[in-house]
Amino acid sequence: MKKIIFLAAMSILGITACKTVVKETPDNSEKEVMKKADSVLALMTLDEKIGQLNQFSGDGELTGPVALRPDLLQSIRDGKVGSMLNINGADYTRKIQKIAIEESRLKIPLIFGYDVIHGYKTIFPIPLGEAASWDIEVAERSARIGATEAAAAGQHWTFAPMVDIARDPRWGRIMEGSGEDPYLGSRLAEARVKGFQGKNLADITTILACAKHYAGYGNAQAGRDYYTTDMSDNTLREIYLPPFKAAAKAGVETFMSAFNDLNGVPATGNKYLIHDILKTEWAFKGMVVSDWGSISEMIPHGIVANKYEAGDLAFNAGVDMDMEGNVYLTEMKNLLKDGNITEAQIDESVRRVLRLKFLLGLFEDPYRYSNTERESQTLLKPEFLAEARDAARKSFVLLKNENQVLPLNISVKSVALIGPAADAADDMIGNWSGRGEGKHVITLKKELETRLGAGKVLYAKGANFNDSDKSGFAAAMAAARRADIIIAACGEAGMMSGESMSRADISIPGVQEELILEMAKLGKPMVLVLFNGRPLILTKVNTFVPAILEAWIPGTMTGPALCDVLFGEYNPSGKLPVTFPYSVGQIPIYYNHKNSGRPGSQEQKFTSRYLDVPNDPLFPFGYGLSYTQFAYNNLILSESIVSDIHPLEVRVDIKNTGLVAGTETVQLYIRDLVGSVTRPVKELKGFTKVMLKAGEVQTVSFKVAKEDLSFYNREGVWGTEPGKFKVFVGTNSQNTIEAGFELK
Ligand code: GLC
Repeated sequence: MKKIIFLAAMSILGITACKTVVKETPDNSEKEVMKKADSVLALMTLDEKIGQLNQFSGDGELTGPVALRPDLLQSIRDGKVGSMLNINGADYTRKIQKIAIEESRLKIPLIFGYDVIHGYKTIFPIPLGEAASWDIEVAERSARIGATEAAAAGQHWTFAPMVDIARDPRWGRIMEGSGEDPYLGSRLAEARVKGFQGKNLADITTILACAKHYAGYGNAQAGRDYYTTDMSDNTLREIYLPPFKAAAKAGVETFMSAFNDLNGVPATGNKYLIHDILKTEWAFKGMVVSDWGSISEMIPHGIVANKYEAGDLAFNAGVDMDMEGNVYLTEMKNLLKDGNITEAQIDESVRRVLRLKFLLGLFEDPYRYSNTERESQTLLKPEFLAEARDAARKSFVLLKNENQVLPLNISVKSVALIGPAADAADDMIGNWSGRGEGKHVITLKKELETRLGAGKVLYAKGANFNDSDKSGFAAAMAAARRADIIIAACGEAGMMSGESMSRADISIPGVQEELILEMAKLGKPMVLVLFNGRPLILTKVNTFVPAILEAWIPGTMTGPALCDVLFGEYNPSGKLPVTFPYSVGQIPIYYNHKNSGRPGSQEQKFTSRYLDVPNDPLFPFGYGLSYTQFAYNNLILSESIVSDIHPLEVRVDIKNTGLVAGTETVQLYIRDLVGSVTRPVKELKGFTKVMLKAGEVQTVSFKVAKEDLSFYNREGVWGTEPGKFKVFVGTNSQNTIEAGFELK
């Protein structure tokens, strides 16, 4: 194939591209890229530089409040736009790119960004569900496939992974992240960044990733989205920052600043957070984009009086690009004239933007991602659907299975399938579902009918997701009475979680719970399959329903994945990445809590307790059952005194004591018994998945390094302190065996 090397001959009149031979993958070594970026920068006017720091959304899919903005296409011609988001498809992106390349003075290519959160066209489980797999390979694969599809559809950049730690299930965006734990969240952040960006961004199947929302967004008080966050620096650094730091170390090329007020200074204007920690302490060389309008929203925050001050605060904090705020475009020249910012600062930000465009090979070929033939050959490939099915079944968490209701027998005579989620295709792809479509979803109803034969499936919707209509109860109860087994497919509608979807009452919505309990009274074998984007309050149904399978929002391959588990072809192996409270009144409730001076229980007066509910959650972090059972024995530490901080080895035997093979996620927790600041009662410091045949025993080992014992002390200094530690190993954060060691 004829190779063409692209030599950019830039002249003051604009870019004169003389195409001789272009390598299939451009040379995007850092040195080469920065040299090219500087050569373009040298040609740019101030207006064109400011234009590169401006991002507008396409009119197709708005993902935020529509901001006023000049005529979009003319802005591109005038060099006032560096990036667009929500422009979808190879054809549409080519059309818009053509305006930048053929009608602007310097022909600088646009970067197209989009929210590829859990798949682009092939939709995977929501990230919280995927986190329940505790499977790093699954997370990397799903991001890889999301990137491959998105790149084939003209996208250069995804606003993912969302790595916000969330301890409050009322917050709707808990569905987008990896739950409550910094260690699990960090491992998944790394995997997703690698999945999206691959080994080299010159590869046509890779896209830029974006660690968001930097930072502390999940700490929203009362679980209300966009609301105030207030925390100590130690909490910020030990709980909320680790997944961001892990993403940065994994090479994420962009960050997105968050909406929230953080300790009195909104994250988007927070110099300590962006300039001091991200760009200086962590030496981040990538680009920081604001969230949608988060620069101008500092006005209602009340920390600035107008757009001029908002631009000043954000740009000096380190935000390089303004998403849909229209602030940099209108205020930057005045800020420069008044000496609030310098042209050197502007050049630095523009360099960070141009660097990405060279890394992606867009100067060599601005249309390389916009190929309609590749797009049609790539989307919804059978192998992608197979991966989505595998990811979904690995995400399911078996919460209860009394009397071995599960797995079901495929020769069952009749099954009553009841509930609003049974055949709700659109709800199975949930929020942030990219270009996914319900018409490609295989629902639980569809798959059950395929496997059992339609005549054996007695379907009745019974209730809606979230209203008081009980008119469907009679038909549902009639079906339940006739059937051998009841499957209740209930939970939240797909859009009841996600951005701006906080709920104060996190019970199973509408009248579904009433219907579930009515059916449970029949005393038949019954399984509740739950579809939800957040932990729900399951205390009542857990009392009366013999089996509960947490399915989250499973994606395009919902039905096949669920039937694989329901009929035992796949033994469920998921573990909760987030605590399921006993009562909403316990929130915030999380496993890595402090001990307090009066740790207690409901029975003990004058201790930390409630009169009306236990302190413990209904289901703890890390919890998940299997169709088999596992026993933990012989926990051995390589030493009981650890002096020179070489890694401590922890070994434990795991036995499959049941009758079927299964995969167990072995979890390692550490407790520092005494510190110069109070320390959590447990902290996850390792996990590994082991597949065991019935009766098989394996020895699992972990290394505990100095980093694992380090924390921010009373002076805010990171390091270890001598003293006694406990090691816990087990099947969840409550059910463990333990040993101790001393750090000298
Ligand atoms: C939204 C979200 C952010 C998303 C962006 C672009 O407001 O907060 O997560 O990436 O806008 O859609």
